[in-house]
Amino acid sequence: MQLLILVIAYMLGNFSASYIIGKLSANIDIRNYGSGNAGTTNVMRTLGYKAAVFTLLADCLKGVLAVYIARRLGSENLAMMAGVAVVLGHNWPILLGFKGGKGIATTIGVALSIHFTIALVCVVIGIIILILSKYVSLGAIVAITLFPILLVSQGWNYFVFGLMLCVLAIYKHRENIQRLRQGTERKITEKLKVK
Ligand code: G3P
Repeated sequence: MQLLILVIAYMLGNFSASYIIGKLSANIDIRNYGSGNAGTTNVMRTLGYKAAVFTLLADCLKGVLAVYIARRLGSENLAMMAGVAVVLGHNWPILLGFKGGKGIATTIGVALSIHFTIALVCVVIGIIILILSKYVSLGAIVAITLFPILLVSQGWNYFVFGLMLCVLAIYKHRENIQRLRQGTERKITEKLKVK
């Protein structure tokens, strides 16, 4: 039963909002544009802010849903594992040839569902950094790094959960980190309209 819930969470993660909206609104594969990432920021620069808001909310919602299902049918620990599974499904979706996104929107949904206050603090700090620097990636990296650190106060299981999400996000942002260091990272203000 637990394995089934984790598989369901992983499959839920496969439904990439950016891929779906790219196909429906402009008949493009978002992964062939901009940064090549199937996520909110790339939708923003490629398809505009309305499509980006949809992507953010939909990807966030699947994180919330995966945690909700696992919590209802299992335990809090299973909910955390489902949270990691849905992010894995988003980042490496079997239905999309394992080429997905970087998991930040889904991670936000998962994190808010597991510990609302700590996640909110991280999200707010991430947004402040984004506003000041104009780099989504920098805001995301700082916020997700802070998450497991703050979760230490909740016990080792929460810390391990936060650390797993952090490792996944940092790994997925390794090219962004390189670009940030080189000063070549794309800012949120950069546009690449295809329609
Ligand atoms: O979460 C994705 C964001 O941090 C960076 O996206 O498309 O600029 O690589 P992108």
